[in-house]
Amino acid sequence: FPVVVLISGSGSNLQALIDQSLQGNLDIDIKAVVSNKASAYGLERANNAGIATHALDHKQFESREAFDQALMALIDQYQPKLVVLAGFMRILTEEFTRHYEGRMLNIHPSLLPKYKGLNTHQRAIDAGEAEHGVSVHFVTSELDAGSVVLQASTEISSDETADSLAQKVHALEHIIYPLSVKWFSSGRLTLENGQAVLDGEP
Ligand code: GRF
Repeated sequence: FPVVVLISGSGSNLQALIDQSLQGNLDIDIKAVVSNKASAYGLERANNAGIATHALDHKQFESREAFDQALMALIDQYQPKLVVLAGFMRILTEEFTRHYEGRMLNIHPSLLPKYKGLNTHQRAIDAGEAEHGVSVHFVTSELDAGSVVLQASTEISSDETADSLAQKVHALEHIIYPLSVKWFSSGRLTLENGQAVLDGEP
């Protein structure tokens, strides 16, 4: 099942996908990993796993539209059935999101619809939340607003810091993202009329 993964940083979620497929738990073929940052550690992880890598620097493009078009052309060379955003820190154009509608997933570190955008861990602590977590969702043109596939939550303890909370959330990410991808690649998960559907149930 051909997949392209987009990253901007460490790539620990990419690693979780690689590990799960190496262990035979996830039947995907990661055709390529693309980063908008050449220094992203995730590119090294991909190299180590023998996966094709590309760095496509958004700063080399005149506009968001031009970057997204180049990115689309690059991705489509691999004919993926699923595009996985794994810490890809770029806002995408409507053309891009429409092109991959129903076949692009993102993972966002909050219990959506709460805390869209950045600095989610600190914002959840500052708001005095009792719990926090992570969401996998289909990508639509509105930022972090696509239909949620799967969430996992954790308690916020009284001495929690953004770093300690990020660690707990990351551990959850590495479980729920491979699982969501597995559902999609096995045909159990689809997007129908903007709504994530698992085994026929919204
Ligand atoms: C994760 O926290 C994810 O939820 C967010 O970006 C981070 C990526 O981490 N979208 P990594 O690069 O996979 O380690």
